[in-house]
Amino acid sequence: MSAPIILKVEAVSRSFGKFQALQGVSLEIPRGRLCALIGPNGAGKTTFYNVISGRYRPSRGRVFFEGRDITGLPPHKLVKLGLLRSFQITNIFPALTVLENVLAPLAVMHGMSFSFWRSLSSQKHLVEEAMAILERLGLAGQSHREVSTLAYGDKRLIEIAIVLACRPRLVLLDEPTAGMNPEETERMIRLIHELAARSEITFFVTEHDMKVVFSVAQTIFVLNQGSLLAQGTPEEIRANPAVRQAYLGGSLDAERA
Ligand SMILES: Nc1ncnc2c1ncn2[C@@H]1O[C@H](COP(=O)(O)OP(=O)(O)OP(=O)(O)O)[C@@H](O)[C@H]1O
Ligand SMILES: [Mg+2]
Repeated sequence: MSAPIILKVEAVSRSFGKFQALQGVSLEIPRGRLCALIGPNGAGKTTFYNVISGRYRPSRGRVFFEGRDITGLPPHKLVKLGLLRSFQITNIFPALTVLENVLAPLAVMHGMSFSFWRSLSSQKHLVEEAMAILERLGLAGQSHREVSTLAYGDKRLIEIAIVLACRPRLVLLDEPTAGMNPEETERMIRLIHELAARSEITFFVTEHDMKVVFSVAQTIFVLNQGSLLAQGTPEEIRANPAVRQAYLGGSLDAERA
């Protein structure tokens, strides 16, 4: 039996003035599947995520999350439902410690206000939960360091920690490895792969590095000029002539990416 559909997008369009950034995009993401969205610069990937995650209203079309019509719901409502777009690095508080950055969203999820001035011991269960998340990401040893002192790759991992603290069921990651060096990229991808395999979370990731996409994604969707050009397994996408054409050949070769 095939996995239930966690996200269903039906004929979504989005215009900016006269410019059509998305034109009738439909797709379905099965629960638990690691899916990637690829496409040349300006194809509409970020706009698509903005529509799904509630930042933009679609001009046309509908979005369903776990069978529920969520079209036009704002991001904070979607987070509560379990649909989350990765936080940008600007959402991290650099002057706070790693632990505090994870405690804040955890407290919100527990419906309580976290106080940085109250002793941590009085908020023991939150701290334990935060430490478990940090442990999972290999950041436990850095929990008391101020975020501003961390390496770039570790800062980006804190975004993932914050995402996990929100207990999502579907996570949209828009270029999670942007600006990372090769080692940081590999660590991030390994982590996403592992989380996708070991947790109940479904990941939908955009990524420019084709080597990464072809090595981890189970299903790949290709956007081109606002339309869905193709979808399939990495092998199917690699062999698709229309996709190769959109990428002008070369960059689809994993070894060159
Ligand atoms: N708020 C906006 N106002 C006007 N045009 C926009 C807006 N957001 C996106 N666009 C346009 O929509 C098109 C798609 O942009 P988008 O950022 O979604 O592409 P992308 O696939 O994410 O590209 P990249 O790979 O470079 O991140 C681009 O031509 C962009 O200029
Ligand atoms: Mg983008």
